[in-house]
Amino acid sequence: MNVIHAGLKQWVADIAKLTMPDAVHWCDGSVAELRHMYALMERAGTAIKLSEDKRPNSYLVRSDPADVARVEDRTFICSANRDEAGPNNNWVEPGNMRATLQKLFRGSMRGRTMYVIPFSMGPVGSHIAYAGVEITDSPYVVASMHVMTRVGAEIIERLGKDGFFVPCVHSVGAPLAYGSADVPWPCNPDNRYIVHFPQSREIWSYGSGYGGNALLGKKCFALRIASVMARDEGWLAEHMLILKLTSPEGQAKYVCGAFPSACGKTNLAMLEPTLPGWKVETVGDDIAWMKFGTDGRLYAINPEAGFFGVAPGTSTQSNMHAMSTLQRDALFTNVAMTEDGDVWWEGMTDVPPERLIDWQGREWSPGCGRPAAHPNARFTVRADFCPIIAPEWEDPNGVPISAILFGGRRASVVPLVNESRDWVHGTFLGSIIGSEKTAAAAGKIGQLRRDPMAMLPFCGYNMADYWRHWLKIGERPEARLPKIFCVNWFRKDDRGRYVWPGFGENSRVLKWIFERCDGDGQAVDTPIGLLPAPGALDVEGLDLAAGAMDWLLKVDTDGWLQELPLIREHYERFGERIPEAFVDQLARLENALQVSPAAA
Ligand code: GTP
Ligand code: SPV
Ligand code: MN
Repeated sequence: MNVIHAGLKQWVADIAKLTMPDAVHWCDGSVAELRHMYALMERAGTAIKLSEDKRPNSYLVRSDPADVARVEDRTFICSANRDEAGPNNNWVEPGNMRATLQKLFRGSMRGRTMYVIPFSMGPVGSHIAYAGVEITDSPYVVASMHVMTRVGAEIIERLGKDGFFVPCVHSVGAPLAYGSADVPWPCNPDNRYIVHFPQSREIWSYGSGYGGNALLGKKCFALRIASVMARDEGWLAEHMLILKLTSPEGQAKYVCGAFPSACGKTNLAMLEPTLPGWKVETVGDDIAWMKFGTDGRLYAINPEAGFFGVAPGTSTQSNMHAMSTLQRDALFTNVAMTEDGDVWWEGMTDVPPERLIDWQGREWSPGCGRPAAHPNARFTVRADFCPIIAPEWEDPNGVPISAILFGGRRASVVPLVNESRDWVHGTFLGSIIGSEKTAAAAGKIGQLRRDPMAMLPFCGYNMADYWRHWLKIGERPEARLPKIFCVNWFRKDDRGRYVWPGFGENSRVLKWIFERCDGDGQAVDTPIGLLPAPGALDVEGLDLAAGAMDWLLKVDTDGWLQELPLIREHYERFGERIPEAFVDQLARLENALQVSPAAA
């Protein structure tokens, strides 16, 4: 490859000198290169080719059982000072961290090939997109980046002599001594470091080969570093799906939604509406970058080129479009394998197969007491294979956003849908979102935690400053802002069952949101915001238990009053940096709840 970018050349040479690989390979993003990566992985025992009849050109990879999810407690934001990183991030003084990294990476690629992956987050040439270069010693990461980003020599050509790119260094942290054998999934679980230097827009990742820890274009760049760039440049980098919603009249609107990890973004982005005449098409399923257009509207692009989606729970019933996307050319990680060389995971079929090989390569049969697939098992597949990908999903100008949804997994208190009164109120509601923890990150599952804007693990600076940035976005005099809504598909009854059927039925909520954006659709003002008026939410043909709808749309005054101390505690972590507007909003909420009839 002919590289005229002196900074890039120097950086690659420096990293090679530090990590001491056997060889350096510049990736061109070609199909041949992808095939070569799979061949390497098959030879190393990393990947198993699935049945060509069942799932053409697809592979199964089993990770080390100690390397199955993001590691938030090993993720660091090394800004100039602790306050800039904020209480939402682990902070280490940049100089100290650099010294640690130098030691870790010294010789870390011995016995391996160092791959240099030039990639674009977003359509190449889009004014909303940015370039990155990831250095890695993992063929699995190369193959994944091929699918998840736009890789190619063109990226380097466009950088010219001195174009901006985000440098990303990744090593599995398992150098090979001369002549020693490799393991299928090399990693270093006792020594993991996912490190960001926001000031210099740099990423260093060591010891893990999994997902967001290793595919550095995704959470590290497109969220943590990009959120800092967005703050500095006046735009938004968010953990959001993007969908196109078309009414029976043929009118289209674009909607973004921020839900925490494994809380329904992929499913909503690929929703098959149960409401006749309505249509959903996918623009993105995990990340949205939004910049203002000249008309004052926020335009969003999906910076990714593929889906890295949660496998368990995905079925032809819950997400038929994801299932079609996965028919060929798919990479599966930590799912189970069937006897005929296909994949399976919990929830794919009602009745599990009689015999499987589980995600750890062990014999599995129903009732054995272990899950067959890891709860954070994932599929990796190109976005353009999705049968309902929106034709404009790669529009370099992005799509104009009409509504933003905030959500989480809440068994109680939070209603099915709630519209904010204005941008400030909506931003406030986003800042107090709570959700029960899922398997997407290491840690205790089910625990309720505040996950503001679904960005708690992904905001690359002080969350209170991030809220101020959101408020500033709303203060632009020329801005024509999206409406902000909160949704919760996960409310449960006294017996622990989901009250709302979810998935395709969520189209009913989308319809009300669509109408509200047009100034139609009836709402009632409540202490927490605007809820659908009785009868305003289309439930025709929906088979719900008597009283279920009232339960889903009720303002649980007592529940909210009990929530207030938790919200206050959440805010107190950020001390003086909390926006004044949020303190006012919280006081207003408390007043309104106290005078509300149910509280009397
Ligand atoms: P990340 O990729 O981790 O950011 O997650 P995501 O937000 O894209 O989550 P995803 O759509 O993959 O959903 C995760 C889990 O939630 C899956 O097991 C789904 O089956 C389940 N889920 C999604 N939508 C719904 C819903 O409307 N109702 C219920 N009950 N479960 C849902
Ligand atoms: C998430 O955890 O929100 C994901 C998966 O989307 S990962 O890329 O591993 O972060
Ligand atoms: Mn995510």
